[in-house]
Amino acid sequence: MLEKTLQELAQSTEARIAAAETPDALEAVRVEVLGRKGTLAGISKDMGKLTPEQKASIGKLLNAAKQSLEAALDSKKAAFDAAALSARLDSEWLDLTLPAPQVKPGSLHPLTQIQQEIEDLFVSLGFTVLDGPEVETEYNNFDALNIPADHPARDMQDTFWLQNGHVLRTHTSPVQVRGMRKLGPPLRMIAPGRVFRNEEVDPSHEHTFYQLEGMMIDKDVSVAHLLYFMKTLLGAIFKREVTVRLRPGFFPFVEPGFELDIQCLICGGPGCPVCKHSGWVELLPCGLVNPNVLRMGGIDPEKWNGFAFGLGLTRLVMMRYAIDDIRLLQSGDLRFLNQF
Ligand code: PHE
Repeated sequence: MLEKTLQELAQSTEARIAAAETPDALEAVRVEVLGRKGTLAGISKDMGKLTPEQKASIGKLLNAAKQSLEAALDSKKAAFDAAALSARLDSEWLDLTLPAPQVKPGSLHPLTQIQQEIEDLFVSLGFTVLDGPEVETEYNNFDALNIPADHPARDMQDTFWLQNGHVLRTHTSPVQVRGMRKLGPPLRMIAPGRVFRNEEVDPSHEHTFYQLEGMMIDKDVSVAHLLYFMKTLLGAIFKREVTVRLRPGFFPFVEPGFELDIQCLICGGPGCPVCKHSGWVELLPCGLVNPNVLRMGGIDPEKWNGFAFGLGLTRLVMMRYAIDDIRLLQSGDLRFLNQF
C-alpha cells in the first residue's frame, strides 16, 4: 500500500520537476515534497506504526526516492543556472574593438601649478611650508604685525569683519606670527594661501586672491640676503635672470620696508602698456622684520633678525601667462582653464 503511494509520489514529482518553468517553481516543488515538513517527511513519520520488516523495506524505498528526486532537482537547477548565465553573457557582451570614450584629463589650476613650483624651490632652500586659517583673529591679522587699532595702516586694507570680531585674513602675514610661535628661531618658512579684501571687483581687483608669505629669521640677516632669495625665486619662476630694483615701501611689520620691482618682461625696459610705460612692474613687497613683530612672535630682537616678503601669487600668474582680467582665475570657466 505505502509502496504504491511512494512510487506514485516519486513519479509525479519527477514529472513536476521536469515541467518546472522557473527556479521559483522548482523550489516550490522541492519544499512541498522534500522539505522539512514535506510529503516525504510525513511518510517517514507515519512509519512508526509499521512492523520492523515493513519499516526496513519502506525505509529503503523512501531513501531511494529521496535520492533520485534530489538528483533530478539538482540537474534541473544546474540547467536553470546555465540558461541564466548564457542569457547574461548575451546581454553583457563587450566589443573590445570599439574606440574608447574620449575622457578629457583634468589639469591643475595655474595658481596651484605656480604655488607648487615655488614650494618646491623653497623647500630645497630649507624652508618649511606652513598653513594658516582663512578666518583669523584681529590680533594675528593686525596687532601682532605692529598694526594697532588706531594705526592708519588698518585703513589700507578693506577688511571683511565677522560678527564675532574675527576677520577674513587680509594677507598671509598672520602666518608669520603663527610660524614664529610654532617654530622659534632660527626659522625659514613660507605660507601660501587665500586672502580676502573688500574690493570693488574689476579686471585688476578681486575680493579673493592668493599670496605667498615668506620669512627667514636668523643671526645678522641683511637686505643682501633678502635680495639673494628674491632673485633666486624670480629667476626660477620666469626661467631667466630678472633685473630687480628696490624702492622704499611702508608696511608696519617691516623696517626698512621695500617694494621690489622687476624690469618689465614684456618690453624689457623701454616701456609698454603692461608696465604702464615705466619699464618696471611692482611685484614683491618685502623688508626686514620689525623688532616689535619679533617680540610679539616670542623672539628676542636683540639676538635675532630676519626678512619677510609677501608675493602676490595671483599677480604673478597673470604676468606669467599675460592674463589681462583677474576675474578669469576664479571664474571656473572651462574654456579658460582648459588652456593650462
Ligand atoms: N602683507 C603685505 C600685504 O599684503 C605684504 C608684505 C608681506 C609686505 C611681507 C612686507 C612683508 O600687502
